[in-house]
Amino acid sequence: MNLGLEGRTVLVTGAAKGIGRAIATSIAEEGGNIALHYQTSEKEALETANVIEKLGVKVALVKGDLASIDDVQTMKKTIEKQLGTVHSIVNNAGYAQYKSFFKYEPGEWTREVDVCFYGVLHLAHTFMPDMMNSNEGKLINIIGDSARTGDRNLIISGAARSGATSFLKSLSQEVGRYNIQCNTVSLGLIDQGQEFDAAMLEKILKQYPLKRLGNAGDVQGIILFLLSAWSDWITGQVISVNGGQSMIG
Ligand SMILES: NC(=O)c1ccc[n+]([C@@H]2O[C@H](COP(=O)([O-])OP(=O)(O)OC[C@H]3O[C@@H](n4cnc5c(N)ncnc54)[C@H](OP(=O)(O)O)[C@@H]3O)[C@@H](O)[C@H]2O)c1
Repeated sequence: MNLGLEGRTVLVTGAAKGIGRAIATSIAEEGGNIALHYQTSEKEALETANVIEKLGVKVALVKGDLASIDDVQTMKKTIEKQLGTVHSIVNNAGYAQYKSFFKYEPGEWTREVDVCFYGVLHLAHTFMPDMMNSNEGKLINIIGDSARTGDRNLIISGAARSGATSFLKSLSQEVGRYNIQCNTVSLGLIDQGQEFDAAMLEKILKQYPLKRLGNAGDVQGIILFLLSAWSDWITGQVISVNGGQSMIG
């Protein structure tokens, strides 16, 4: 199946390691050029860029804090010089603190909102006008299912991402006429070598009808599909990739 990603430029945020790295690599395997964003993980970003370059596509490394509109605008200039216009964005970066609301000091919640909510606005406001001019584009925002179901220990990032999801629904109505699709991918727990003791793992897996954690491949598949022309009539949607842990109608 040809996904039509050859020669396209995709910005993947938080792509130095983890799920972002897996996403960027799979897009490169389909021939897409990668604007590889990182914030602090420079060494890992360089390693990922090396791997991707060997796949025969172009890579531009871009550093920035998504909470800063200035950084995001500078990222755009850097990418343009090296790769030209960004066709699509996968916003994989995120910042969450795992604790009860009452363990926060006032104001300590700001950063999660700045990254997980305003970061999405910064990306859309900076990159989408070019997509509108070229009458095509895709923006995919990755969130955790906690933003849909609630999670008392992911209370701020969940709320911020719920706001971003609402924003993308409304934005998809605004930019649909320019053939731009905005969708949200909502993840369950992805296995990245976290160490769970057997009892904890058993407790977690009880919540998953498919009886396993997710893996990078589970995420890569949906992202490649949503970046491809095969998803051109899908916009404003939230798609959970979560082993059935939550089933939201
Ligand atoms: N892993 C899971 O089970 C799971 C479950 C549900 C949802 N998710 C979501 O899936 C995404 C990927 O998960 P992950 O576990 O691979 O990675 P992660 O550690 O949660 O975060 C991904 C990247 O976000 C970047 N980041 C953080 N704050 C930033 C900021 N202010 N500006 C720019 N970038 C920033 C970091 O880049 P640097 O390292 O370069 O600083 C980090 O590598 C995240 O959004 C995560 O919340 C993951």
